Amino acid sequence: MKLQNLFPLLLCASIFMACTNDNPETLMEDMPNDNAITYQQNVKSIIDNNCISCHAATPRNGAPMSLVTYDQVKNAIQNRGLLNRISLNNGNSLLMPQGGPRLPQATIDIVSQWQQDGLLDQ
Ligand code: HEC
Repeated sequence: MKLQNLFPLLLCASIFMACTNDNPETLMEDMPNDNAITYQQNVKSIIDNNCISCHAATPRNGAPMSLVTYDQVKNAIQNRGLLNRISLNNGNSLLMPQGGPRLPQATIDIVSQWQQDGLLDQ
């Protein structure tokens, strides 16, 4: 290849490289943990809307524990199979919320993602 043929190539390469995203601030925004699911931002409202009618501070209707604090919900995920219980099919007598209907899959996915992200508080 002749040397003068190399210049347009180099020009293209440098233009291309100038367009890549190397700004540290915007790179940070792309990091997955920035969008991690947290209890305060994502999970608490799901539990409040669907579970605490029974799993109240003083549990009602035969519920064995309350689900009103971060520690209680985290503990239920780790030791009481919360994720399994909300993932069962409609009609399964163990499904939570008790008596159904099953939560929308997108809602279940948020709780599942919360666990994968490390059960963060906030
Ligand atoms: C209508 C009342 C009611 C609602 C609403 C309800 N639960 Fe329950 N829950 C119960 C009862 C009663 C039990 C105990 C019987 C059983 O295990 O099925 C229970 C048990 C559980 C258990 C098992 C606890 C253990 O240690 O065995 C989990 C986990 C649970 N519920 C999570 C939830 C979640 C999460 C929600 C909301 C999505 C929810 N529940 C909504 C009544 C309810």
